[in-house]
Amino acid sequence: MTPILKVENLVKRFHDEMSYGQGEILKDLNFEMQRGEFVCILGPSGCGKSTFLRCIGGFEGYEGTLAVNGECVTGPGTDRIMVFQEFSQLLPWKTVEKNVQYPLKLQGCKDKKKLQEISDLYLEKVDLLEYRKFYPHQLSGGMKQRTAIARALALKPEIILMDEPFASLDAMSRNHLQAELYQIHQKEKVSVIFITHNIQEAICLGTRILVMSKNGEIKVDMMNPLPKPVTPSSEKYGEMWDLLHDALYEAGGEEKE
Ligand SMILES: Nc1ncnc2c1ncn2[C@@H]1O[C@H](COP(=O)(O)OP(=O)(O)OP(=O)(O)O)[C@@H](O)[C@H]1O
Ligand SMILES: [Mg+2]
Repeated sequence: MTPILKVENLVKRFHDEMSYGQGEILKDLNFEMQRGEFVCILGPSGCGKSTFLRCIGGFEGYEGTLAVNGECVTGPGTDRIMVFQEFSQLLPWKTVEKNVQYPLKLQGCKDKKKLQEISDLYLEKVDLLEYRKFYPHQLSGGMKQRTAIARALALKPEIILMDEPFASLDAMSRNHLQAELYQIHQKEKVSVIFITHNIQEAICLGTRILVMSKNGEIKVDMMNPLPKPVTPSSEKYGEMWDLLHDALYEAGGEEKE
């Protein structure tokens, strides 16, 4: 079966005077992802995680091979949707439901009834249906992130690319959203790449975990053996945590909590 994502000899260089050396941020990355995987990426600050995600999203040029579902990535597309850390990723002048509907409209969907059906369906999935008429400034951070997730899901992407989406949330909202996201992933069978600095988050969410090193290489690529749902009292949780913590330390940075 064609992998959902194939990365072969991927190199990313930034050619500006601020870049060190040759400006080589990603060095010869090789990685294959199957449909339905939930891949978490850990790595020290500045190692190139966001750059990697932006390359997959089609927002950066690159050298090497990057193919989604067998198609070479040449620019952004609705098969790859990004969700960011910033709470400001929603359009402030549009309501929650209009934020969800807007990219669908851009895609050419003009049928108002259909748009309403789709936004209701996905807002329901993230528990926000009753807030559909609210504007972003009337929402909590977690609610904004849930709106961004509903908006991403509504486009039925092949892969959702998430760059530390829960990093600005308090611990309780974060735990809650982690559980919600994992359930959605299970139900929708969507493939997810999720960047985090948080080892607990990677262990709880990932079916597979990568650790990138400071010099832009994949140092660890492992399946997560812990059965879901994972909690800190799960068997082998401590072992996994130690293993990833050591790997992160060796990769050139301790965990940023
Ligand atoms: N547009 C750019 N031009 C030049 N260099 C860049 C550009 N974008 C990123 N970089 C450099 O690429 C490196 C990796 O940045 P990136 O944002 O991918 O790191 P990261 O792993 O996501 O870090 P963090 O965990 O802090 O978010 C950094 O050294 C950064 O300075
Ligand atoms: Mg980043």
